[in-house]
Amino acid sequence: MTTRETKIEHIDAGKKVGFSNLSDQEIYNFEETFGAHHYDRLHTVIRKTEGAWLYTQDGRKILDCLAAYSAANAGHHHPKIVAAAVEALQGHYSSVISNVVYTDLLALFCKRVSEMLPQLAPRFGSGGNKMLPKNGGVESVETAIKLMRYFGFKQKGIPDGKQEIIVFNNNFHGRMIAVISFSSSKLYKEGFGPLTPGYVSVPFGDIEAVKKAITPNTCGILVEPMQGEGGMYQPPAGFLKGLRELCDQHELLLVADEIQVGMGRTGKMFCFQHENVIPDAVVLGKAIAGGLAPVSVMVTNRELMDMTFKPGSDGSTFGGYPFACACGLAAIDVIEKEKLPERSAAMGKILKDKIDKIAARSPFVKEVRGKGLFIGIEVKSGDAMVFCRKLLDLDLLANDSHHHTIRISPPLIINDSEVDYIADRLEKVLVP
Ligand SMILES: Cc1ncc(COP(=O)(O)O)c(C=O)c1O
Repeated sequence: MTTRETKIEHIDAGKKVGFSNLSDQEIYNFEETFGAHHYDRLHTVIRKTEGAWLYTQDGRKILDCLAAYSAANAGHHHPKIVAAAVEALQGHYSSVISNVVYTDLLALFCKRVSEMLPQLAPRFGSGGNKMLPKNGGVESVETAIKLMRYFGFKQKGIPDGKQEIIVFNNNFHGRMIAVISFSSSKLYKEGFGPLTPGYVSVPFGDIEAVKKAITPNTCGILVEPMQGEGGMYQPPAGFLKGLRELCDQHELLLVADEIQVGMGRTGKMFCFQHENVIPDAVVLGKAIAGGLAPVSVMVTNRELMDMTFKPGSDGSTFGGYPFACACGLAAIDVIEKEKLPERSAAMGKILKDKIDKIAARSPFVKEVRGKGLFIGIEVKSGDAMVFCRKLLDLDLLANDSHHHTIRISPPLIINDSEVDYIADRLEKVLVP
């Protein structure tokens, strides 16, 4: 693959970089004193980012193998996305504009996102897609839950309040109340009840279990085409096709949560494309605005969207505001024009081959799995963070997925020498 120029070669030790003059110690103290302790942060302060790299005050340059859980697929501080953001900020078009009037940026973003996807839910017509914008990913997952429930109520005649949605064990769709209600994680839900009913959870990849879970009240299936937080698992081949068939037979909506695995991450623009399956609705977030603005969308067939959402039945003050749309339009352009899905497939293959070889020599590795630049290394001890901390000491940022798996998920722009860098660090921590 072509090499990418990195402008920042290093940061001089001692030179202040970043937004403020706070020392690292002051930053730790402020966050720990005034911020909720809802993340177990690694003890490092990042002052500057560019491309695949993160920079610290003391001159360290760290390769980012987490990419903000896929939000930074296009790399950090991408010049084209930053330029679009600056143009929006300087164009007297930066603040939120009330959703009761139109803006060209939202109009363009709706069109771009709707047309970027294949015709969803084609059995409802081929008049195109529509999108509904929100901010964080979990909000758009909830929008999709509303879509499935309303479809069940209106189209299938399920009594309101009785709709059921099939989900999968070890799913991750965010951490607000509706979504944690069907999480398998005790930590996410204990003490946060009452939780919301209406979900049936079955093992990921088990099509027979899905069949058994379908009742006259089932209105949809919510699936991650590949589980990210749940441990980086691909379903068995044919599983998504099987879900599609069941949805067609039983008149259910199939919703793909592509928030982490979409936008090129697994070597295709959308992960469901690996199985040539067309969902009825798709949820996207994270990388859709280049990691510069929190933007998420729920996209579905025009007929379904119009049937479900009317003025007042949904909304979001910031959802689809001009700055976010400017970032989103630029990010989609970058992902398409720089062929980041193809790049992810090519660089992912090279990296996975190297990791497979390291794993074969490692006493610590249980299994390597993944697609594109979404690679999980499951460790026998079940404690992946032990290895992630050692990787950070070697200037590589990675974290665990579901405790037992090291997640290797760098920006999709990485080049050959950066792939070698990752392999070199993994070799050092995994092969004694
Ligand atoms: C598959 C999936 N769905 C939903 C979410 C929630 O997104 P957000 O954290 O932006 O609310 C995530 C976040 O990691 C995710 O991976």
